Amino acid sequence: MESSFKYPKDFLWGLATSAGQIEGAATEDGRTPSIWDVFATKPGKIFKGETPTVACDSYHRFDRDLEMLKYIGVNSYRMSISWSRVLPEGTGKLNPLGLDYYKRCFEKLLKANITPNVTLYHWDLPQVLEEKGGWVNRDSIEWFGEYAEKMFREFGDLIPLWTTVNEPIATYVGYALGGFAPGHTNEVWGNQARHNILVAHGKAVEAFREENLKDSKIGVVIDIWKRHAITDSPEDAALVIDEDERNWKFYCDPILAGKYSDYLLDRLTKEGTVMQMKPHDFELTSQTLDFFGLNVYNRVPVSVNAQAKADFSQGGNFLNNRTEYYPDALYEAVKLLHELYDIKIPVYVTENGTYSIGAEKVDENGMVEDDDRIKYVSGFLKSLEKALAEGYDIRGYYLWSLMDNFEWSAGSNFKFGITQLDKETMELKPKKSAYFYKDYINSKK
Ligand code: NOJ
Repeated sequence: MESSFKYPKDFLWGLATSAGQIEGAATEDGRTPSIWDVFATKPGKIFKGETPTVACDSYHRFDRDLEMLKYIGVNSYRMSISWSRVLPEGTGKLNPLGLDYYKRCFEKLLKANITPNVTLYHWDLPQVLEEKGGWVNRDSIEWFGEYAEKMFREFGDLIPLWTTVNEPIATYVGYALGGFAPGHTNEVWGNQARHNILVAHGKAVEAFREENLKDSKIGVVIDIWKRHAITDSPEDAALVIDEDERNWKFYCDPILAGKYSDYLLDRLTKEGTVMQMKPHDFELTSQTLDFFGLNVYNRVPVSVNAQAKADFSQGGNFLNNRTEYYPDALYEAVKLLHELYDIKIPVYVTENGTYSIGAEKVDENGMVEDDDRIKYVSGFLKSLEKALAEGYDIRGYYLWSLMDNFEWSAGSNFKFGITQLDKETMELKPKKSAYFYKDYINSKK
């Protein structure tokens, strides 16, 4: 993609993964199961009954991943820590073998001038804590606070960018909708779990400030999927409000505005699903952050009118995977964060990417020809350039993902990687999009 746009000096170009999706080695070196290890053993939960037991085997192959990061030329890598690898009982005694693994990873990244951007919680709660009620139990706030504090003490300044939790909506999907681990279908639990994780996030930020780390910053990662009305009917306008409130605003409001909206609280109270809250909770949820991590994949067109929805999906601009191609979702999400919350902190786009379903098309040399991903990423990079050109303070962009990995309930069927994982040799092979991203980054350095 030709573009003469000049990125700010020190802009971070990254790739992202998470522990539960790539590490494997689920039972090795003292690690205990996470909720995803257990959920995956339940029939019908994951595509073809797959499990994350081996995944990309990154626990044994970090050097392979590092070589690929260097080859592509990124200067930052977003990864996460597996809570049950470092704290097999969830709280209490640390596991030295788990700590060693991460320490080695971080040191190697730093040596290669690749800034680690490390997430504490990317959906993989230790199963031992789920057995005590998981995120529905208010004690989870303390459990997470303890885990966070221990990680800041162990790794502290080695990590320039920490994030507390990734996409807290996953707790709602896991406790209310059943589609994610731990697979409960209880609306009250779902709301309580997502409230507790937001308070837990604040507890971690508090612990971070107490450590007084000089070379480290902290943020959170929220996904914004802005609803757009398909028609201009008042019903569709109302639906947009309702869905925005129940989705990304549920997380952004307490973090960036220090409260839930009256609309949301009224709605949940009427439904009888409102969560138990304490006044101090909001001091915690709204702790000052150093940056905002934005995951942005798409917008969500909505309508109460089935025919309007059907017409939209016939006429819209779609990729082969049937998701809409709407790159301005990035620009609009950044703008919205400033307009709605007046944020004064920098934004990092901590995830952006797209997937193919099933087998991918290869050329005569066996290279995956993922032209749709190139189209998608090029569009989003233009949108990023537009936001930067308007003066929004964005400090980095992370493409999801370094490699095809365990895409949660979709297992290996949804492939988000810019490199392909050969399941026989466990080697990574760049797809066409990896060369595209490599060239793009190099042209911007
Ligand atoms: C959101 C999540 O953070 C990540 O774990 C997931 O794989 C990607 N988006 C793609 O769905």
